[in-house]
Amino acid sequence: MVVLPYTVAFLLLSFLQTVKIANSQSFIGISYGQVGDNLPPPSSTAKLLQSTSIQKVRLYGSDPAIIKALANTGIGIVIGTANGDIPGLASDPDFAKSWINTNVLPFYPASNIILITVGNEVMTSNDQNLMNKLLPAMQNVQNALNDASLGGKIKVSTVHSMGVLKQSEPPSSGSFDPSYRDLMKGLLEFNSANGSPFAINPYPYFAYRSDTRPETLAFCLFQPNAGRIDGNTKIKYMNMFDAQVDAVYSARNSMGFKNVEIVVAETGWPFKGDDTDVGPSIENAKAYNGNLIAHLRSMVGTPLMPGKSVDTYLFALYDEDLKPGPGSERLSGLFKTDLTMIYDAGLSTSNQTQSPAASPQPSPTTTTTTTTTSNNNSSTSTSTSTGTGTSTSTGTGTNTISINICSSNNNSSSSSSSDINKVYLIKIFNLGLLYGFTRLSLICLFFYYLQT
Ligand SMILES: *[C@@H]1O[C@H](CO)[C@@H](O)[C@H](O)[C@H]1NC(C)=O
Ligand SMILES: *[C@@H]1O[C@H](CO)[C@@H](O)[C@H](O)[C@H]1NC(C)=O
Ligand SMILES: *[C@@H]1O[C@H](CO)[C@@H](O)[C@H](O)[C@H]1NC(C)=O
Ligand SMILES: *[C@@H]1O[C@H](CO)[C@@H](O)[C@H](O)[C@H]1NC(C)=O
Ligand SMILES: *[C@@H]1O[C@H](CO)[C@@H](O)[C@H](O)[C@H]1NC(C)=O
Repeated sequence: MVVLPYTVAFLLLSFLQTVKIANSQSFIGISYGQVGDNLPPPSSTAKLLQSTSIQKVRLYGSDPAIIKALANTGIGIVIGTANGDIPGLASDPDFAKSWINTNVLPFYPASNIILITVGNEVMTSNDQNLMNKLLPAMQNVQNALNDASLGGKIKVSTVHSMGVLKQSEPPSSGSFDPSYRDLMKGLLEFNSANGSPFAINPYPYFAYRSDTRPETLAFCLFQPNAGRIDGNTKIKYMNMFDAQVDAVYSARNSMGFKNVEIVVAETGWPFKGDDTDVGPSIENAKAYNGNLIAHLRSMVGTPLMPGKSVDTYLFALYDEDLKPGPGSERLSGLFKTDLTMIYDAGLSTSNQTQSPAASPQPSPTTTTTTTTTSNNNSSTSTSTSTGTGTSTSTGTGTNTISINICSSNNNSSSSSSSDINKVYLIKIFNLGLLYGFTRLSLICLFFYYLQT
């Protein structure tokens, strides 16, 4: 067997990475908007979060009480600067320093601050001054972190609405609005240079509101539906979330930043709205959030990003009774302020330890990726094969170790996916022996026999 060294490295890395990523459910986060006058005390919120499989919480500001309450919980914390702070942060490096001194240094590392979002949906705010100052503000916040020796430990980014895309259908033709293109390029360059994620808020809910056919609702709620074929790639999308995230993926790639991670900073579905609202209901909200969580846990990924789950912050932790705008803006909570669930989306830790085989499966999204496996490079086809796999898991307490490299959910057109898996398992087995990763080889052996 002749294998190029880089292919060897890639195979090993992708395998180990798959194991590592699947090792926790750190991809499930929640947005905690605090525009309410009835929110529970921070310590209660910390306890609530610890009773769930939520691993990350996104704050829109930097409320010290909640940051402190999350100390030593391991829960990742995203904090944000207000849009109104952007001009000051952009023009005054000392303001950025004092922002870090006030909002980060007293709490870190006991409180696991992982990301600072500079502003929210600035690019679609129609405020040209703010848009122009966004990047310099992010740079000054980054410099202040670097000065505090926290560069790389805490990332800096901003959050976009889907409005930054000019086109999102079909997903493969996703592209940014040309009027933002230069600014977006600068932001993506920043993300790339600093290893920070590109954060965006996809809402299938809004897609449904502009097209209220039952078929679209099913597509948005991960329920059985006919699917939508992307004519360019021939990939059949089975849900709107994947389609929207892949549109972002295509837009990002078209700018040449394939290395920048995509994070879903917000997505959700209101359970109640104004009388005239279409879409909001407990049933729909439960279907969307519950099926989304199951989809993320399946680790199937999206057709263009198979085999891993994009970090996703659900919207939202609680209702926000003081939020302006339509009722649906206030009524998207997953928990009541008395800390009970509004509906069961499967977030409690008891749902997490369940083996994936027994957990509710979202509609057959797994079938869509088979069409993407048509290329010659062994390295890329390996990463694709991880996508078609369902997770096989060995439950050990709260840590579910999932290995995604095995077994396809359905017969692919060639009906040989299991054979393909075996070929890769044998390859990795050999490589493990070659490079002394005996445990890796043993694991492969184990899964090889599971396949037979
Ligand atoms: C979560 O777990 C609880 C307790 O085991 C169970 O009653 C509930 O149905 C589960 N929810 C989901 C969505 O799986
Ligand atoms: C498996 O694939 C066939 C066609 O290839 C499709 O008709 C069927 O619904 C799929 N089954 C599942 C469980 O996805
Ligand atoms: C195969 O890999 C080479 C080098 O990594 C790359 O230039 C080429 O585009 C790849 N081809 C396909 C079909 O992915
Ligand atoms: C593999 O590459 C050959 C030549 O480079 C090409 O003719 C063939 O179509 C490719 N196969 C696939 C599945 O991409
Ligand atoms: C896969 O295909 C084989 C024969 O083609 C069939 O017996 C088997 O039931 C299929 N399995 C699934 C999951 O569709």
